[in-house]
Amino acid sequence: MADSPPITLCGSLARHPARLGAAMHGAAYEALGLAFTYVPFAIDDLAAAIAAMRALGIRGLGIAVPFKIEVMALVDRLEPLAERIGAVNTVVNDDGLLTGYNTDAHGAVRALEEVTSLEGKRILVIGAGGAARAVAHALQQRGARLHIANRTAEKARALASALGATYGGLDAARRLEGYDIVVNCSSAGMKEYGAASPIPEQAIFPGLVVMDIVYKPVRTELVRAAESRGALTVHGGRMLLHQASRQFELYTGRAAPLEAMDAALKTQIALTG
Ligand code: ATR
Repeated sequence: MADSPPITLCGSLARHPARLGAAMHGAAYEALGLAFTYVPFAIDDLAAAIAAMRALGIRGLGIAVPFKIEVMALVDRLEPLAERIGAVNTVVNDDGLLTGYNTDAHGAVRALEEVTSLEGKRILVIGAGGAARAVAHALQQRGARLHIANRTAEKARALASALGATYGGLDAARRLEGYDIVVNCSSAGMKEYGAASPIPEQAIFPGLVVMDIVYKPVRTELVRAAESRGALTVHGGRMLLHQASRQFELYTGRAAPLEAMDAALKTQIALTG
């Protein structure tokens, strides 16, 4: 039997994995003819999974909710952006040396910039976990004015003080008139965390930009409500696409075939919602 070329393994670590990542990364490998494969792993023990990454020589792993902060202590070094943000959503393995990156920041900005500019915009960020940290830092870098609203006030305070933003509880989601954009960065709306939207439907008005970073399902209760109220809607698949394209570049060293990844995303959404 002729030797086949070695296959490089990448994947993701999540408590409840989704299919979208595998669809997009797989399409990108195929588009460029790369001998890579992508496996979404469902895990509970993050430290054991990172040890397995070292033992098995897995090239790259996406890190999903709720592991984006915990993983920082398990890698060998952090890129400066991930360190500044305080969250890692991507780990790259260079011959046994693990580096933590943050591609969520890039993904959030690119997703929002598909529909709006950000400079000077008043933005309500809901959530203060790992994903919210990345999104809030990226938006602040783009010159937006932020208010952080979180279920646990202390975490909102910590994030807001790092950014010079204002903060408070989830009540802010009931009065949106003062905002141009609202981004749900909390897990609220995710199937496994309770499908309820963190924003009451009546608070949403035409012309408001509403982005949800939840992508399981892509059409969350919030996205559905925002569409029906005439808001400009950005679903969680858009951020996922742009953060995945940056991951692809880190794993392969090649420019991401964004069109192929976008087509795979759309096909997967049409299949599973
Ligand atoms: P990730 O690293 O993916 O951001 P995380 O750090 O666990 O995940 O953060 C999850 C975020 O969603 C937090 O802001 C959390 O609020 P708390 O800080 O109060 O825990 C928020 N969250 C989770 N479930 C929620 C719910 N049902 N309603 C509102 N916020 C929720």
